[in-house]
Amino acid sequence: MTRLWDWVGNRCRSGAMWVWEPWRFVERMELLRRCFPQWTFLYAQKANRSFVDVAARVADGVECASAGEVKRALAVGVRRIAVAGPVMTREFLAWLSGCAVEVTVHVESLQQLRLLGSVDWSRPVALRVNASVASELPATHHMTGLVPFGIEPERIPLAVEMAHAVGLEVMGFSHHAVSNCLDAEAYAEHVARSVGLSWELARLGGIELRYINVGGGLGSDPRGECIDVVRLAGLVPSLPAGVELVCEPGRFLAAPAGHYVCEVVDVKSAGGLTFVLVKGGTHHFRLPAAWGYGHPFTVVPDGWWPYEWDRPEVVDREVRVCGELCTPRDVLHPGQYVSRLRVGDRLVFSHAGAYGRDISHSQFLSHEKAGTVTLDTWR
Ligand SMILES: Cc1ncc(COP(=O)(O)O)c(C=O)c1O
Repeated sequence: MTRLWDWVGNRCRSGAMWVWEPWRFVERMELLRRCFPQWTFLYAQKANRSFVDVAARVADGVECASAGEVKRALAVGVRRIAVAGPVMTREFLAWLSGCAVEVTVHVESLQQLRLLGSVDWSRPVALRVNASVASELPATHHMTGLVPFGIEPERIPLAVEMAHAVGLEVMGFSHHAVSNCLDAEAYAEHVARSVGLSWELARLGGIELRYINVGGGLGSDPRGECIDVVRLAGLVPSLPAGVELVCEPGRFLAAPAGHYVCEVVDVKSAGGLTFVLVKGGTHHFRLPAAWGYGHPFTVVPDGWWPYEWDRPEVVDREVRVCGELCTPRDVLHPGQYVSRLRVGDRLVFSHAGAYGRDISHSQFLSHEKAGTVTLDTWR
């Protein structure tokens, strides 16, 4: 981390910045390749759009959830995309059918099948399955059960019938179920269950199974811990030739490759709490507020200050880090201990590269956007 620390200390002079380190994304991708040489990896760009160009080089393709995401993937030369989303319009699907790359649509409803039929969709499709049992997996977010995603297993035979009736070929199933699963055993169970259910549904629907997509969910958390993929590799079933297993990691690849850096502009107390106020906040980095956790940070002291004799500081105290928004919810950390922190210092929130900037409400209050900088070039 020396390089990042040096950069923050010497060059990050004002405001808030996102610092991207794409080599960390590449390192994680290489780890996945070593562990799962047979799997196909499509980067879920919703985690961080800034890594799509890296994914175009090191992953097999990109998962997209909107026309904007598809356009971004095409612009950087991605060769293969998977497209999913609870709302897909006829116009969108008609446009998608003209894209000159390999496109797999994960169909989420019977209505989406009708729409695909109406635009004469010619490529094989996969059906997204909403298997409520997957919501028992230990993870931060669950995407099955009482959610509007996918088709319940009992309705899959009907969906296959309808697909055939409108001229579509069904090649398999998508099982995206969780986000941020840190437990290798549990994720292995998810893979095994997805594979088993796919065979069962293929049998019931009378289709030849060629495609099983287990979705995302490989965990990587704000403290820097991640799912033990080496262990996971030893637990997952292998598949017969001709059946492709696809995984769509977002967080696992992007989380370690982004840091949010902001400047301390004030310190004050109220009701027994010590507040540290930064130029920045949850409009740049919404994840801690969205999930209700404190994102760990490192204090990088700034040696230079114009009024050194009157520099506010906090010593040996737990502090609540808040941003510049006029809402009490603009909290990046509700209480972290600091040995010393002074106005003008920088706070670095690491492991923030996934769903940090990309889920944020950046328009709120019209504050300046955070800058971005990329450290280290493409290897
Ligand atoms: C369909 C789909 N695939 C993959 C992902 C990526 O998940 P993660 O970032 O947890 O790997 C998501 C995220 O919600 C998703 O909706």
